[in-house]
Amino acid sequence: MTLDSASLTAASDSPLRLMPKVELHCHVEGSARAQTVAELAAHHQIEIGVDDPADLYHYESLAEFLAAFGTVCSVLQTPQDFHRLAYEAAEDGAYAGIKYREMFFSPGFHLERGIPFDVMWQGLVAGVAEGEADFGTRTRLILDVDKPKLLGPAMALLEIARGLDRDLLIGIGGDSTERGIDHRVFAPLMAEAHNIGLKTCFHVGEDGPAENIRHMVDAGIDRIDHGTRLLEDPELARQVIDEQIPLTSCPSSNAALGIVDSLADHPFAAQREAGALITLNSDDPTFFQFDLADEYERIAATFDFDHDTMVAINDAAITASWLDDSDKAVLRAEFSNPDLAR
Ligand code: HPA
Ligand code: ZN
Repeated sequence: MTLDSASLTAASDSPLRLMPKVELHCHVEGSARAQTVAELAAHHQIEIGVDDPADLYHYESLAEFLAAFGTVCSVLQTPQDFHRLAYEAAEDGAYAGIKYREMFFSPGFHLERGIPFDVMWQGLVAGVAEGEADFGTRTRLILDVDKPKLLGPAMALLEIARGLDRDLLIGIGGDSTERGIDHRVFAPLMAEAHNIGLKTCFHVGEDGPAENIRHMVDAGIDRIDHGTRLLEDPELARQVIDEQIPLTSCPSSNAALGIVDSLADHPFAAQREAGALITLNSDDPTFFQFDLADEYERIAATFDFDHDTMVAINDAAITASWLDDSDKAVLRAEFSNPDLAR
């Protein structure tokens, strides 16, 4: 296991670590082990600006985080590198208790360095398959566009997505900063993604206002990533709750990047209390040095949630997933009787 075990607070036998879980908001590049980054940087002779790659994983804002994210991306060069990335993410996911994960990858960060799409896709596909075979963590992928590059590059990626295996690629998302971006420009991306049978989600209401959530809801978004600022617009919140548009919340990530002042100040409990279909996620586990099991423990401790509440939060992630109904039923049966699990 990777994530330096010393930094993982949920013990290896803690009930919340052992609970079989679903995760819907986790970035594969944000799951790169420091040791792997160091080895790949040395292998490809890439300067990453620090002697100890663990030193990359310190930041106090989304902008600083994104700079580190870019540096980590820069060491990924070959299909083998992406294979290793996805494989190790599955291994670490298994240690967090994750059985099923819908996971982002961010091609914009790699294409801008001249890495062909096929290099990342072939590597990820192989790593996902081997990770599932070896660790039992089933992963499906969501292609995240880089929002600051706006609509043109996003539509070009959607063209590539059109031809990819739908058993693996299930949706289109968007990440990076919201600052200065009018999210209405992405409405055609949402429409075309739906036309070709892909689900949609976007990081909104993280470092931008609730208005960005509104614009994506108006565009027919299937799921909202973060949505931290949703309750600031009560009318929008009512609609999101009435329509049960899921939120993939990442409270510790938000606390680490100063999106909220502290975990206790995070609206997770308030959003849940208001009736939102809200799920709990780690976002970028190695970058924040905690995994989904830690996140479950932190949220249980912060909001005084009992075990049954944490089971219900995990069940919300099954509901909010893009599995079909029969696969959801299989997962629920496995989760209520872990002896059934593969
Ligand atoms: N927000 C924006 N961009 C990101 C994130 C995030 O949580 N994680 C990786 N890229
Ligand atoms: Zn994210």
